[in-house]
Amino acid sequence: MPARRKGLLLEKARRRKIDAPAAGILFAAPPCARARKSPRWRALLGEPMPYRLSRVYNHWDMRDLARRRLPRAIFDYVDYGSEENVAVRDNRAALERIKFRPRTVNDVSKRDQSITLFGKRRAMPIVIAPTGGAGLCWYDAEVCLARAAAKAGIPITIATAATVPMERVAAEATSGYWQQLYLWNDRALSHQIVERADRAGAEVLMLTVDTAVGSNREHNARNDFSNPFKMTPRIACDIAKHPRWLLATMARYMLAGGMPRFVNYPEGSQMRVTGAPIQQSLSPSINWNDVKELRARWKRIFMLKGVASPEDARRAADHGVDAIVVSNHGGRQLDGAEAPIEVLPEIVDAVGDRITVLVDSGYRRGGDVVKALALGAKAVLVGRATLFAVAGAGEPGAHRAIAMFRDEIDRTLALCGCTSFADVNRALLRMPR
Ligand SMILES: Cc1cc2nc3c(=O)[nH]c(=O)nc-3n(C[C@H](O)[C@H](O)[C@H](O)COP(=O)(O)O)c2cc1C
Repeated sequence: MPARRKGLLLEKARRRKIDAPAAGILFAAPPCARARKSPRWRALLGEPMPYRLSRVYNHWDMRDLARRRLPRAIFDYVDYGSEENVAVRDNRAALERIKFRPRTVNDVSKRDQSITLFGKRRAMPIVIAPTGGAGLCWYDAEVCLARAAAKAGIPITIATAATVPMERVAAEATSGYWQQLYLWNDRALSHQIVERADRAGAEVLMLTVDTAVGSNREHNARNDFSNPFKMTPRIACDIAKHPRWLLATMARYMLAGGMPRFVNYPEGSQMRVTGAPIQQSLSPSINWNDVKELRARWKRIFMLKGVASPEDARRAADHGVDAIVVSNHGGRQLDGAEAPIEVLPEIVDAVGDRITVLVDSGYRRGGDVVKALALGAKAVLVGRATLFAVAGAGEPGAHRAIAMFRDEIDRTLALCGCTSFADVNRALLRMPR
């Protein structure tokens, strides 16, 4: 190609900030450190050009970005719930049914969305939820999320099924590292994780209690999806259709020594040895004695995730648990389970100040978060909102997802006539009749 034409093309791409992988291939400098930092080279590796991220206005745009980049099997694994997907839809519908009853003519020129949680000031009322297998979405996704959380001044929860060592995430998560825990049939295996999390400095131990058995996720079977990831002809075709994921995620793992594994699983667990699906390792015999035992072992904040009734919330308080997450696992476990936002007020009334109540499942907008806090939650965990962001755009995506929550919370507070969460209470809402 004549030099003049090449120059013109480059100039055009620069001016219009075109995401032009072809131009990238033609003109990318060799992968030296400087070239690797350029947006065009990064686009080749699967990151969206900056202009694309600036065209992301909400979670659904971010989800679209992730849908285009991820193999179908991985997108569905993150996106779907179980069986008929009723719980996933209900989580959103229940939040949307609640309306604001805003106050006006109230000076809102100065606003502050920080909260105090477990005695510490947090910049925003959100926490990143544990999402097992996040590393399939993006190379070292948990590290990207931890950096974004640290920058935003919020905690991050690392799943038992994370693919990055908890110590590495702990080092990045300077605004709080929480550790999620599953219970194995052999309790000693779970206790290994507890001890390791303690050494890594976890602020919170979060025992998930809504996974006594695995749920029925037919989409995973249909797509040949397994966690950890295994290659089948169907998966190979799926990957071939998503070259950006292949380059930016799979190739990087291969260069680093193979597909991601559950590196935090305890020594000797069936999962670690055979790579068997997570469900085969979980314990259906989980009971309140386990809660008692873990309470005695863990000296810092102990939390149950997946509490869905006032009776169980009271029982958790009786067992010395510090906090609960009212959750239906983002609709991924029991299909048809009530939306957590609907049972939240009853649970808050049942436990009063005895334990701290958090909530998750379906939170996509800052306004949803304000509704939850108005109903008595102290903070909201977000799962897919930040996971899709990292899946679509890596660490910049995670920063953007949190920034969108921040802006929306701020705007909602202002439009509701509130200057901080001290002004937010049930009077601000009209519940569905
Ligand atoms: C891909 C994915 C993996 C998840 N893995 C776990 C897990 O390993 N442990 C757990 O307690 N919750 C897990 N969850 C549930 C989340 O912690 C959280 O409860 C849920 O995502 C909240 O709903 P949302 O995605 O609508 O925000 C997972 C969720 C997703 C989307």
